[in-house]
Amino acid sequence: MTADQELQDEVTLDDPAVFRRILGHFATGIVVVTAFGKHPVGMTCQSFSSLSLEPPLVLFSPARTSTTWPIIREIGTFAVNILAVEQQPLCRAFAVSGSDKFAGVDWSPGVTGAPLLAGALAHLECALYQVLPGGDHDIVLARPIAVGEAEARSPLLFFQSRYGTFDG
Ligand SMILES: Cc1cc2nc3c(=O)[nH]c(=O)nc-3n(C[C@H](O)[C@H](O)[C@H](O)COP(=O)(O)O)c2cc1C
Repeated sequence: MTADQELQDEVTLDDPAVFRRILGHFATGIVVVTAFGKHPVGMTCQSFSSLSLEPPLVLFSPARTSTTWPIIREIGTFAVNILAVEQQPLCRAFAVSGSDKFAGVDWSPGVTGAPLLAGALAHLECALYQVLPGGDHDIVLARPIAVGEAEARSPLLFFQSRYGTFDG
């Protein structure tokens, strides 16, 4: 038996922890999706991805249990803030449901009014394009309408439940 076969034999999807562990091998960047309705809202997401060039589309996948996602959906425009390595505390803060996520956070409104987080690598302000069902998540397709980027910084990365960076 080869090492590869041994690895495959080990994997069973009966255990959700195994599914999570396997997915944890996929390193991602981290974004905070923000919007402004009556007050600023936001949530940390690793499910952000580029999708289409023509038309330009991006996507992210909020859990159906998220309390922030229905507010963003109602507002219809939002900002995707791509986090820099120094923003790990923001990443953690925007992942805590029910907390005052914007307490002490430095931000300014974008053209849609969505909060642009100071120190982010880049941002894309987007308009909701389509929402598709994705099991216990929604798949949100969005059209970027305004973008911006900072001076070169290192990204915040997430891999096997740990944070890191990439020094290009
Ligand atoms: C590194 C990291 C990545 C996350 N990625 C996602 C994601 O892609 N989709 C999602 O729904 N929640 C994700 N979460 C969890 C949400 O940030 C969290 O459930 C959400 O902020 C809950 O608050 P809410 O009730 O205000 O929506 C992630 C959390 C962390 C720490």
